[in-house]
Amino acid sequence: PKRVRVHHLREAKERGEKLTMLTAYDAPTARIFDEAGIDLLLVGDSIGNTMLGHETTIPVTLDELIPPARAVVRSVSRALVVVDMPFGSYEAGPEQALATAVRIFKETGAHAVKLEGGRRVAAQVKALSDAGIPVFGHLGFTPQSENALGGKRVQGRDEDAAELLSEDAIALQEAGAVAVVLEMVPAPVAARITEILRVPTIGIGAGVDCDGQVLVWLDMAGMGGWSPRFAKQYGQIGQALGDAARAYAADVRGATFPDDAHSFLA
Ligand code: KIV
Ligand code: NA
Repeated sequence: PKRVRVHHLREAKERGEKLTMLTAYDAPTARIFDEAGIDLLLVGDSIGNTMLGHETTIPVTLDELIPPARAVVRSVSRALVVVDMPFGSYEAGPEQALATAVRIFKETGAHAVKLEGGRRVAAQVKALSDAGIPVFGHLGFTPQSENALGGKRVQGRDEDAAELLSEDAIALQEAGAVAVVLEMVPAPVAARITEILRVPTIGIGAGVDCDGQVLVWLDMAGMGGWSPRFAKQYGQIGQALGDAARAYAADVRGATFPDDAHSFLA
């Protein structure tokens, strides 16, 4: 299949074709999602919560994100791979952001990076875009700022906050962002931003009118654990994995595994 490229994002928006995105943190899930035709894979700093046992994304380091990103890039033949810039790796300014994104690009082969914030990171987005590094923005509820935002809360609910969100989205687009993730934004606000922007919006808890959707794969697939209300569950992978482990343990305890078919008899 033909690779998804950055120019396809805007073309998809113009044609009214929805973009599909999931997180991936390792080779087997990346291969499965790529083969399933998911357009964009995000090596998200949600790896902190989903895989590394942290409560937030804040402790995640660049050194922790690079090996999973490399595994995901190696495992796809079609999907465009986006890697999150972790908390503390870009806020200081364009130079710091460029050093981080260059490391991500050189060491993983990723196709784009993502960072959180609007006007406050516009200079960073411009520096990366000028350097030939496609950037995804991320607005609304931005988990790296959870402490400042007062927890996991819908953003842009009142008219002033919605206006600020639109201004941030426009600032990201003007700085060169190729797409903007909108997280936990009222559906009508996300719809309005989607209409204003030339670049696609990718929603998570932001209604159906965004140009695409993203979910954390463990939420989407029913891997178990806490899941936000906006995440629809499309499978019961946690249950299936637990069933497999219980069946295996029962066979081992009952000495019915390994049988002849799974043994070297001579
Ligand atoms: O880290 C992540 O998984 C994300 C998405 C939820 C947008 O940033
Ligand atoms: Na993230």
